[in-house]
Amino acid sequence: MTAAPPLTSAFTRLDADEAAAMIPNGAMIGFSGFTPAGAAKAVPRALAARAQQANENGGQLKFKVLTGASTGVDFDETMAKANAIAWRAPYQSSKTLRKRINNQECQFLDAHLSTVAQDVAFGFIPPIDFAVVEAFDVTPDGRVYLTTSSGISPTVLHHAKKVIIEINRHHSPRLSEMHDVAMLPAPPHRSPIPIFEPLSKMGTPFAMVDPKKVVGIVEHEQPDGVAPFSPPDDVSEKIAGHVVKFLVDELRAGRIPPQFLPLQSGVGNVANAVMCGLGAADDVPPFHMYTEVFQDACVDLMIKGMMLGASTTALTLSEPNLQRVYADMDFFAPRIVIRPQELSNNPGVVRRLGVIAINTALEADIYGHVNSTHVCGTTLMNGIGGSGDFIRNAYLSIFVCPAIAKGGAISAIVPMATHVDHSEHSVDILVTDQGLADTRGLGPIERARVIIDKCAHPDYKDYLFDYLENSPKGHLHHDLLRCFELHRNFLETGKML
Ligand code: COA
Repeated sequence: MTAAPPLTSAFTRLDADEAAAMIPNGAMIGFSGFTPAGAAKAVPRALAARAQQANENGGQLKFKVLTGASTGVDFDETMAKANAIAWRAPYQSSKTLRKRINNQECQFLDAHLSTVAQDVAFGFIPPIDFAVVEAFDVTPDGRVYLTTSSGISPTVLHHAKKVIIEINRHHSPRLSEMHDVAMLPAPPHRSPIPIFEPLSKMGTPFAMVDPKKVVGIVEHEQPDGVAPFSPPDDVSEKIAGHVVKFLVDELRAGRIPPQFLPLQSGVGNVANAVMCGLGAADDVPPFHMYTEVFQDACVDLMIKGMMLGASTTALTLSEPNLQRVYADMDFFAPRIVIRPQELSNNPGVVRRLGVIAINTALEADIYGHVNSTHVCGTTLMNGIGGSGDFIRNAYLSIFVCPAIAKGGAISAIVPMATHVDHSEHSVDILVTDQGLADTRGLGPIERARVIIDKCAHPDYKDYLFDYLENSPKGHLHHDLLRCFELHRNFLETGKML
């Protein structure tokens, strides 16, 4: 860890409990954090403790919580366990919070991550009473030096009525060399965004806050707590193999230019496996990323020279990899740009740069509609996250998932998706461990045949072909009495077939 600069004494120092006590019941709080990276830590924990105490005394203390995306275990999970969240947006991945949302104990606004900042600015979501933002420094004139994520921090600092800064001394002050903070004016005053390549910069290395709004700072030294990278399993490796082969073939066919195109890849095991696979492929030239999360696999790729640079909104790195970055900032700082999520995920920039987007589905139907968020159309998993920002606007839109879930009880390829996050119009390529379906240029019935043939698990192929060929025929073939038969079977018997 690099020594932090001496902190200005311009602001009142508070402990986390004192800071949490300033936030009234029912307040709308905008927190820093995009994944565990740069998430507020001390204040959410203290709020959870306050809520827990209130519960035990027969009262109730609940807050509206806005962040960039998901957060660390210490945040959503702890607050949800204390039943301290009444409203949550725009994404989450906590098991306990998921249960509360599905029980209607917490209202959840599942939103595209690129639009959150403007939803705040336009007044589309409730006004922010408090911002709680992690930084490694704040100056008397209001420059806030963010840590490992940018997310919606610049926006909540600007719009909140009151601000608490968590000064986290765990992080390298050289992170400011990566940050590029800019906020977009409201329409009709928007100019073209001057990001012409993944590492273009257009803003400042700090966010701004009106110092008069800062009610205090809370100092600590806590790591982000990103879970360590687990090596890819067999299924992820098979999926990654199909994706890498496809991209190499596209390169050879001249449909991807020789210098390659910037990649966006979701988080998790499959995404990490794809990144590792690309790094190991001799035929793939060194590439850039234009993505929302810079994760563990990217560190090695950058060191090996396979990844030339990355635009992101979060450094979601496990501690050993974060320390590798901090230990060699001369190398990493010029190669990484951390932007607010309305720019890292900006649909216009994604379209302009020709991003190849790779995201994960829960299920996809035979025509290519993708459900990433709701099991059996009702039970929220996490949320749409940034997938829609990228997929709808990508040069190539790729969805990946295992062909089966729960030991084969569930087929990921179904006749009709029970919830549609990404329609057939936005999905080019579907990949499972079984194979890869390239649906570009195909009509719906051709598309269905190739998806079933290449992507469905052998146990489900006959059923799906039978459904396709024996359902009432129009532009699509669908039997409205049968289209959710697999899901109904699963709900009734625990198995789709
Ligand atoms: N029906 C029911 N459950 C299913 C399922 C299906 N069709 N497909 C998968 N599951 C279950 C798995 O069994 C697993 O359950 P478990 O947690 O009890 O083991 C769980 O869903 C997660 O599946 P997994 O295969 O481990 O996938 P993942 O961790 O890669 O997550 C998503 C997949 C879709 C939930 C996740 O990628 C996501 O939330 N995506 C939306 C957000 C996004 O794409 N962000 C953009 C870029 S960061």
